[in-house]
Amino acid sequence: MAFKVVISDPLSEEGIYPLREAENIEIDFATESTEEELIEKLQDANALLVRSQTQVTRELIEKAPNLKIIGRAGVGVDNIDLDAATENGIIVVNAPDGNTNSAAEHTVAMIMSLARRIPHAHASLQEGKWDRKKYIGVELKHKTLGIIGLGRIGAEVAHRAKGQRMNVIAYDPFLTEETAQKLGVKGGTVDEVLEAADFITIHTPLLDSTRNMINADAFKKMKDGVRIINCARGGIIDEDALYDAIESGKVAGAALDVMSEEPFVGHKLLDLPQVIATPHLGASTVEAQESVAVDVSLDVIKFATEGTVRNPVNMPSIPTNLLKKVAPFFELTERLGKFMAYAAKGKVQQINIKYAGELSEVDVRPLTRNTLKGFLSRNYGNHVNDVNSRYLAGRIGIDINEHKTAESKGFLNLITVEVVTDEETRQVKGTFLGEKLGSRIVQVDDYAVDVFPEGHLLLIYHKDQPGAIGRVGTHLAAENINIATMQVGRTEEGGKAIMVLRIDHSATADEIKEIVDMPNITDVKAIDL
Ligand code: NAD
Ligand code: MLT
Repeated sequence: MAFKVVISDPLSEEGIYPLREAENIEIDFATESTEEELIEKLQDANALLVRSQTQVTRELIEKAPNLKIIGRAGVGVDNIDLDAATENGIIVVNAPDGNTNSAAEHTVAMIMSLARRIPHAHASLQEGKWDRKKYIGVELKHKTLGIIGLGRIGAEVAHRAKGQRMNVIAYDPFLTEETAQKLGVKGGTVDEVLEAADFITIHTPLLDSTRNMINADAFKKMKDGVRIINCARGGIIDEDALYDAIESGKVAGAALDVMSEEPFVGHKLLDLPQVIATPHLGASTVEAQESVAVDVSLDVIKFATEGTVRNPVNMPSIPTNLLKKVAPFFELTERLGKFMAYAAKGKVQQINIKYAGELSEVDVRPLTRNTLKGFLSRNYGNHVNDVNSRYLAGRIGIDINEHKTAESKGFLNLITVEVVTDEETRQVKGTFLGEKLGSRIVQVDDYAVDVFPEGHLLLIYHKDQPGAIGRVGTHLAAENINIATMQVGRTEEGGKAIMVLRIDHSATADEIKEIVDMPNITDVKAIDL
C-alpha cells in the first residue's frame, strides 16, 4: 500500500518535487479543506505536512489513526501538540536550517527600516507629501544591538550587525565565552542586554520561559529611545506593555513580523506611527520556502523507506557515527525486550538494562528505546515505537535504568535486560556476534544457553532429573508441534534446569497446559519473538 502524505498548508511546488517523484508515495492536498475534511483525509494518512497555519492539536492527532510522521516546513513547532504526538508514537520533524538566512535577512531589513523609517516615508510619499524633515533617522554604526537568543538566526543577525559596524551584546543560556568570541559579540545577562542596547532583537522560541519575557519590567530597564524587533514568535513581547512603552516615549520604534495572535490585522499596535509590521514574512522567500519543503519531504521519504529521519523534534536524532555503532544491536535489543515481556510474571516495576564490553563506550539511549519498544510491544502492539516507548514505560510507572560496564564475560559485547516485578526478578542476556553469525541469547536467568533470538520459543523451567526432556518431547509430538532446536542449561547436576526449545509455530496455552502439570516442571513460558 502507498505511504499517504496529506499536505494541509501551501508548500513550495519545487519543495515537494522529491515526494512527487518518490515511489509508492501518494500525496493528498488539504490546503483548502475545512477541519472536518482534513480529519477525513487523515483517516488513512501516514504523514501530515504543515507550515504554521494548521493547528495540529491533540484532537486532530487522536483522530488520525494511521499517522506516523508530522513534518513542519519551518522551524517553530508551536502549532503542533508535541506531547500528543509523542504519546501517540508520531514522530515530528522540522526544517531547522532552511529558513535561517531568510529570517536573519528579514530581521536586518526590519532594523534598517526602523532606523530610517523607510515604510513610513514611502507611505507619506504615496500620499503626495515630500516630507524630508519628519523622516530623519538614526545610524546603526557604533550603536549597540542586543540579541536575545543567539541560536541559528540570532547568530546570523549578529554577523550582519557586525557588517554594519554595530556593537553586539547577546544573551542566550547556552552562550559560551568561546562562541561569543568567535561571533565577535559580548555575552551578558538579560538585564545587561536590556540596559545596554539601542536596538533589541528577539530570536528565542516561544516557551513558557520566554512568554512575555519582554514585559513592563523589562521595558523599564531599557534605554530611553530603544527600538525593538521581533521576528521570532508572537507572545515573547507583552503587546500591551509594548503599546504603553511606545506611548510613553520609552520605545522609539518597534518592528514586528509576528504577534501573539495571527493574523494580527486591526491590532492597536498597528495604529501607532512608531510601529512597522509584516504579516509573518520572515521565511517567505522563494529560496527558504523551497528549502524547508525539500527538507521535510526528504525526511518523510527517509522515514517511509528506512524508518529513520534527519531532523526529529520529539526524539533525539542519532548522529551517523553513532548509528553505525548501535544499528547492529537494534534487532537484538528489541528481541531481548520482547523476550522479557513473556518471561517475567507480575506487575513490572523496574527494567534494568546493562550494556557491557564495546557498548560501554557508546551512547546507548537508542538501544534502550528499542528494548522498551520490544518489551511493550506485547501489550501495545504497533502503538509503541521508538518515539514513545520511553514515555509509555514512564507513564505506566516502570523505572528504567541503564548501566554500562567494560566487563563482558569474554564476549565482545553483552546486553542484559533485567525485569523486576512485584513477584520476581528475571534476566536475559544477548550478544551480537557480527554480520555473519548474527545475535544469540547467551543466558536466561542463571542458565547459560545459546539460542537464536527469533521465532517461537518454549522456556521450560524444571528439576534436572532423567525423563523430563523425553516427556516434553513426546507431548509436543502428540500436539504436532515440531521442535527445531533445543538447549538445556542447569545450575548443577540434579539442580534447577531450563530447556529452551525453538518450535515451528506459536504454542497455545492449551497445547502446553499438560507440560505445566508434568512432574519436576516448575514453569513454562511460550515466547513469540
Ligand atoms: P534556534 O533553536 O537555533 O535558537 C533559539 C535560541 O534561543 C537557542 O540558542 C536557545 O538557547 C535560545 N533561548 C531559549 N530560551 C531562551 C531564553 N529564555 N533567553 C534567551 N535565549 C533563549 O532557533 P532559530 O532557528 O534561531 O529560530 C529562532 C526563532 O525564530 C524561533 O522562535 C523560530 O520559530 C522563529 N522563526 C521565525 C521565522 C519567521 O518567519 N518570522 C522564521 C524562522 C524562525
Ligand atoms: C518558522 O518557524 O519557520 C517560521 O515561523 C516560518 C513559517 O513557517 O512561517
